[in-house]
Amino acid sequence: MDCEKQSQIEEWHLIGLLSDFPDISQDNERCHILPACKTLSVPNAKSAQTRNRLSDLNDQVLVFKYKGFLHAIDNQCPHSSFPLKQGNVFDIEDIGAPHGAGIRCFRHGWKFDLFTGKGDSGPHKLNLWDIEVREIEGAASGDKEVWVKRPSQDSQ
Ligand code: FES
Repeated sequence: MDCEKQSQIEEWHLIGLLSDFPDISQDNERCHILPACKTLSVPNAKSAQTRNRLSDLNDQVLVFKYKGFLHAIDNQCPHSSFPLKQGNVFDIEDIGAPHGAGIRCFRHGWKFDLFTGKGDSGPHKLNLWDIEVREIEGAASGDKEVWVKRPSQDSQ
C-alpha cells in the first residue's frame, strides 16, 4: 500500500456501530443530546503537541442521530468554546427545507444549522465532520460501522 493511500485511510475513524446511535428525536425531553450520543477525542497533529483542557474540547467530535440523519460536529461551540453536547437539537421549519435541523448552544443560546454549519449570530460557523456508514463484511446482524473524518482545513 502506498503512503498516500495509507494516510487517506488514517483520516477516517471508526466510532461505533450504527445500532449504538438511538434517534434522539424520540426523546420527549426536548431532544437533549445526552445520553444518546457519543463524544470522542480525535487529536490532530497540532493538539497532540499542546495538551490542555481547551485543546481536548477542540479535538472532540459529537456524533448523534436526529430524525434518521447521523450528524458529526465539533463538540466545541464556535462562539466561545462551550461543549455543544449540553445543547439541544431542534427542527428548522421556517426555511422550507424538508429535513432542516439545528443545534442550540446551552451557554448563550446561539443556533447552528446541522446541515450547513451556519450560525444565526455573526460569522461563526460550526465544523461538520464527514460521516460514512460502512457495511460489515460477513456480519450476520445487519449492523453497520460508523466512521467519521475531520473536516479539511479548506472547509473550516
Ligand atoms: S458559547 Fe455557545 S453560544 Fe456562546
